[in-house]
Amino acid sequence: MIPGSAALVGAGPGDPGLLTLRAAQLLGEADVVLVDRLVSKEILEHVRPEATVVDVGKTSWTGTAPRQEEINAQLLEHVRAGRRVVRLKGGDPFVFGRGSEEAQALAAAGLPFEVVPGISSAIAVPAYAGIPVTARGVTQDVCVVTGHLDPDDPASRVRWQALATGPGTLVILMGQDRLPMLAAGLIRHGRAADTPAACIEQGTTTQQRVVVSTLEHLAREVAAAGLRAPVTTVVGDVVRLREELRWFGPDLEDA
Ligand SMILES: C[S@@+](CC[C@H](N)C(=O)[O-])C[C@H]1O[C@@H](n2cnc3c(N)ncnc32)[C@H](O)[C@@H]1O
Repeated sequence: MIPGSAALVGAGPGDPGLLTLRAAQLLGEADVVLVDRLVSKEILEHVRPEATVVDVGKTSWTGTAPRQEEINAQLLEHVRAGRRVVRLKGGDPFVFGRGSEEAQALAAAGLPFEVVPGISSAIAVPAYAGIPVTARGVTQDVCVVTGHLDPDDPASRVRWQALATGPGTLVILMGQDRLPMLAAGLIRHGRAADTPAACIEQGTTTQQRVVVSTLEHLAREVAAAGLRAPVTTVVGDVVRLREELRWFGPDLEDA
């Protein structure tokens, strides 16, 4: 890295082995690493001992972390001071990671940056649960969507009606708190109540837990199992393939 530059780097979904070679290289060159909450500790072993690691972890469930504007300001400040700055983000920086906003802040300030894509939880978490997001003969399309807002919330720009009748596979991130509303919304808009559906907690890690059910019953079974964030939800016929393709994880019994 050149001094006075930034890299927006994806750390992958949890398993430290899913870090890219480029990410490991840049972590080894950085003077400052601004790190998200969902990044595993083992990944930080790539950082030089003399580098500064700053936890800027944002979490919607504690509300104690810095705001995005403060993170952007820190990023710019370190780069302007001539440091080599890695902004390390969970999964891929441009998949619901607000990486685009950080890149825009750097671009607007005329500061040099690069982007290192990471393996996104949207693809990798289902894969570690034995669920391919597409499969020939099952479905040819997949949509990754945020479950952050209720389907009936006027502020939601997600077209739930189109999603209910559209893409074969839905991968819903950040939706664990709104599962009852999300499932009911999809069913109301036309997705069959018996569509296979799964929730994966702490996917790709040794704490991975999976609940498999149907769209109609998923929320109840996830609540009974006590799954907590981070959780990825998959809806669609591909979920059935887990029976055959399950290969990883100390899962709790499936419903
Ligand atoms: C703010 S989004 C960031 C996504 C990230 N940029 C990516 O590409 O994976 C965070 C959401 O990703 C999902 N997620 C991230 N890591 C996960 C994991 N190890 N297991 C399950 N879901 C995960 C959860 O839905 C979580 O609420």
